[in-house]
Amino acid sequence: MKPLLVARNLRRADSAREIFSVDYFSLNQGETIALIGPNGAGKTTFLLTLALLHQPTSGSIEIDGVTAGPNNLLHLRRRMAVVFQESLLLDMSVLGNLTTALRIRQAPRKTALARAQKWLDIFGVGHISSQQARLLSGGEAQRTSLARAFALEPDLLFLDEPFGSLDYPTRNSLLNDLGKILKQLNMTTLFVTHDYTEIPFLAEKTAVMYEGRIKKCGSNQEIFGHDFFQRNLWSPWAD
Ligand SMILES: Nc1ncnc2c1ncn2[C@@H]1O[C@H](COP(=O)(O)OP(=O)(O)OP(=O)(O)O)[C@@H](O)[C@H]1O
Ligand SMILES: [Mg+2]
Repeated sequence: MKPLLVARNLRRADSAREIFSVDYFSLNQGETIALIGPNGAGKTTFLLTLALLHQPTSGSIEIDGVTAGPNNLLHLRRRMAVVFQESLLLDMSVLGNLTTALRIRQAPRKTALARAQKWLDIFGVGHISSQQARLLSGGEAQRTSLARAFALEPDLLFLDEPFGSLDYPTRNSLLNDLGKILKQLNMTTLFVTHDYTEIPFLAEKTAVMYEGRIKKCGSNQEIFGHDFFQRNLWSPWAD
């Protein structure tokens, strides 16, 4: 399989200390990798660096064989979309949130409208497209922010605990929908979560980050063993 994203010797440090240091990490075309690890391990910082939103202190990131640098950063960023735990919607209508994101990326008005409506429908929020985003429930807001990410038709998707604030029924229905969509689109995704039960819905592989290092990366079975669902309380970053 061909890696769509490759990070080499990637490191970020501030004046006080190192936040992460990863010798090698890759995401193949069409694969979803879950990234887990305790609070403060460096997952979000690593994800934002791979999404080219944070600058690394050193190291390189290649997208489709092209090394990211000042000359192509904007272009490469436009191939990516990020969804966070908080939906970060603009104070405008649900539809407006999607069309604005698309217009910023230069989509013609008609295309933007059609694509926005299509993705709102797929994520089950098409019927509330004229509602103000600030009035949405948590689940609706998260569906809207996923629809916005997919409407951008990214090659790479980054999800940072996107279901963290949702109740279980809402989370499960969203996980089911998202799992199917990722497979249909053959999307390449990095997915950070603290809830291991979410992993098999979306990802085939899991990477474990601890104190800024990727300690393990392998199939879900290699990382969690056979009794995956029974091992929720187990700490995979412990030796
Ligand atoms: N902009 C920043 N400047 C300095 N330190 C930072 C910055 N962002 C994060 N950190 C520190 O880097 C470490 C890793 O933070 P990060 O948010 O990446 O962890 P995380 O694994 O995502 O944690 P969580 O599971 O709680 O979301 C933390 O100790 C945090 O305080
Ligand atoms: Mg985080």
